[in-house]
Amino acid sequence: MKGFGLEQKMRVIKSAKKMQAVSMALKRQGKTIGFVPTMGYLHQGHLSLVRRARKISDIVVVSIFVNPAQFGPKEDLNRYPRDLKGDLAQLKPLGVDYVFFPSVKDMYPEGYQTFVEVEKLSQGLCGDFRPGHFRGVATVVAKLFNIVHPDVAVFGEKDYQQLKVIEQMTKDLNFRIKIIGAKTIREKDGLAMSSRNSYLSKEEREQARALSQALFLAREQVKAGERHADKLIQTARRMLEKIPKLRIEYIEIRDSEKLEPVKIIDKPCQMLMAVWIGKTRLIDNLRICPQNKRKG
Ligand code: PAJ
Repeated sequence: MKGFGLEQKMRVIKSAKKMQAVSMALKRQGKTIGFVPTMGYLHQGHLSLVRRARKISDIVVVSIFVNPAQFGPKEDLNRYPRDLKGDLAQLKPLGVDYVFFPSVKDMYPEGYQTFVEVEKLSQGLCGDFRPGHFRGVATVVAKLFNIVHPDVAVFGEKDYQQLKVIEQMTKDLNFRIKIIGAKTIREKDGLAMSSRNSYLSKEEREQARALSQALFLAREQVKAGERHADKLIQTARRMLEKIPKLRIEYIEIRDSEKLEPVKIIDKPCQMLMAVWIGKTRLIDNLRICPQNKRKG
C-alpha cells in the first residue's frame, strides 16, 4: 500500500533494456504507469508533478537524465547541477516506484542517428535562441515514452513551449499517452522554481524577482481592461530594462492553445519571456486571460 509501508521500495534502474522489460511486465499485469521525466536536481516544482502522477496511477516512474541532445554546444551541459543522492532522498517519501537513471551511452549508443522534430511549434520563442533544443527534447521524450510505456506523463507549464511540443508530438506519433500540464510552482517572492536558479548569486537572485513581477503586472493590466499585446509587452520591457545585469532575450504574447502570436487579448493568452541575468538564462510565462478565469 502506498504511503504507509516501510516495506515500500523505490528501485533505481540504470539500463533502458531493463526499464523497458519492467514497464512491459507492469502493463501485462494491468497496472497504469504515471511518468515524470526530469533532468534531476529536483525542487518542489518537479515534486509537484510527481505528486500529481502518484495520485492518478498505480505505478510512478521518474526519469533523471541530463539529455545532451537538447543542449547547444555553448550551453551549460557540463555545469548543469546534479545530485542523485539528494534527488532520491526527495523522491522516496513520495511513493515513487522506479527511478530511471540511464547513462548517455545507453540512451545514445555509438551510431545513434534518429531524431524527432516537431516542426512548427519548435520555432519561435526559445526555439529561435536555442537551435536544436526542442529536437533534442522531443527525441529524448519519445525514447523515454517507448522505454517507460506510461499511460500518463506529467509536464510543467513552467516550460510552456516544451509542453506544447510534447503534446503535439504525442498526437502526431500516435502515442497512447495522456499528457498533463501542471501549474508552475514559485518561490515565495514569485520566482519560478528552476534547477538553474542555483547558478544565481545573491544579488542576481534578488533581481530575478522582476520576471514574475512583470508577468503578474501584465495579468493585472489585462484584468483592468488592457487588451493590446504590444502595450503589455512594452510595460514589461520597461520594467525589466531597469534591472542592471538583466538582458531580455524575448518577451512575447501568444495564444495559450496554439502558441500563435496575438495582437489583441481576446482569448486565453500566455505571456512568455526569456532573460539573461549575468550568465544565467531564465524563462517564465503566465496565463493572461481577458476574463482571468484561470490562474497558474
Ligand atoms: P527539467 O528542467 O528537469 O524539468 C522536468 C519537468 O519539471 C518539466 O516538465 C518542467 O516543466 C517541470 N518543472 C520545472 N520547473 C517547474 C516549476 N517551477 N513548476 C512546475 N513544473 C516545473 O524539462 C526538462 O527537465 C527536460 O527538458 C525533459 C522534459 C526532462 C527532457 O529532457
